[in-house]
Amino acid sequence: MSSRSVLFVNLRRIKREGFESLVAARRLGYRVVLLGRALPEFAQPLVDEFHQVDTYDTDLALKTAREIAAANDLAGVVNFTEIDVQLVAAIAAELGLPGMPPEAAVLARNKLAMKQALAGIDGVLPKFARVSDLDDLCAAVADIGFPCVVKPTGASGSKGIFELHGESDLEPAMAELQRIADPSFDAVFRQFGAEFIVEEYLTGDELSVEGFVADGTVHQLLLTDKVTTVPFHLEVSHRLPSVLPAAAQDQILACSEKIVRALGFDNCAFHLEAKWDGERMRFIEVAARPAGDYIASHLVKAATGIDFFANVIRVATGEPLQLVPDRDLQAGLRFVFAESAGTFDGLDGVTELFEEPGYDHVFTEVPIGAQVALPPANFGSQRVAAVCARAHDRAGLDALLDTAGEAIKVRIG
Ligand SMILES: Nc1ncnc2c1ncn2[C@@H]1O[C@H](COP(=O)(O)OP(=O)(O)OP(=O)(O)O)[C@@H](O)[C@H]1O
Ligand SMILES: [Mg+2]
Repeated sequence: MSSRSVLFVNLRRIKREGFESLVAARRLGYRVVLLGRALPEFAQPLVDEFHQVDTYDTDLALKTAREIAAANDLAGVVNFTEIDVQLVAAIAAELGLPGMPPEAAVLARNKLAMKQALAGIDGVLPKFARVSDLDDLCAAVADIGFPCVVKPTGASGSKGIFELHGESDLEPAMAELQRIADPSFDAVFRQFGAEFIVEEYLTGDELSVEGFVADGTVHQLLLTDKVTTVPFHLEVSHRLPSVLPAAAQDQILACSEKIVRALGFDNCAFHLEAKWDGERMRFIEVAARPAGDYIASHLVKAATGIDFFANVIRVATGEPLQLVPDRDLQAGLRFVFAESAGTFDGLDGVTELFEEPGYDHVFTEVPIGAQVALPPANFGSQRVAAVCARAHDRAGLDALLDTAGEAIKVRIG
């Protein structure tokens, strides 16, 4: 191992993803210095140096980063998480490391600023407006029309996405948003507070684009097809590479490149979410970090052989990317949801499932004994496990994921 270090700012909450990010740095020969709110147990053997800091306190985090840089040979600073995009950009700028321009980092984090910055791109954005209370919401909806969606401008993880289908939906949605848009519900609301955006409801096939921008060059690897739950839009499954028609994919890739360029993204991974309405791409948002839901940590590699997480480290350290696929498979994942609230007691049906070699992993996301709740009480804990599979074509993958959805049963006590 070289004596050079990579500075991580926090880790992804999902253990498998956090673990893979640390292993990727190791694989490239770097020491890992972690600046973060906590050092989870799984990370301890893989982190060489830990600095505990409240990373929502930007000044303190920057000061600590300067001290770390003085004592270490830092090759780069990296985030795998959504909330740390701006801090990592600020640290990179301060220390002269490859990074995202701080102005672009704000656009990446705020769904309103992002859409305002893209107003020049024709036909791609939904109609949208900024709202902070019920009066604003009523006025905005009068212009945008039903159905529409209201959500926080700076959250992630589908916390507080409300579909509005009629007048009677407005008051409860705003009450619920004002309840959750508080740091005591989730610390993410320390960043942009109780600011919301209402958008025209976009229809069509939901998808994401996975890529990188490195030293001004946009690299788009592939498209992912996504299915979400009704009505809270929690992810149900991801399948990649997309099977949308080639002409649609070409148009989406062209549009997505225009968007990341217009936002000024650089030296980052990106995960762009959109819908394809049959004729054109409609834009939801783009994140300046690798995709979650095991897409970047596991699925891209399973389908193509491209090590997405290692490339996240390469972008952050200014090394050339390695993006040549060595296989052409279909990979996908399906989440397993609890059907009622209660105590998670385990999964049935997993052992039988693994008779079939197409299943790569079953990951649990909550420990046995954990309390699970359903949205809108809680947006994270209904999802208790994820099954990953691989097949040589989409029909084979669909069959595996469908079978898994029927075979695995969640025991709730
Ligand atoms: N304008 C819209 N029209 C239709 N669906 C939408 C719209 N905005 C959001 N959604 C749905 O809600 C999901 C989450 O929205 P969004 O990505 O803006 O929030 P998020 O909190 O960043 O979620 P995540 O972290 O899961 O991406 C989208 O993937 C989509 O399914
Ligand atoms: Mg999103």
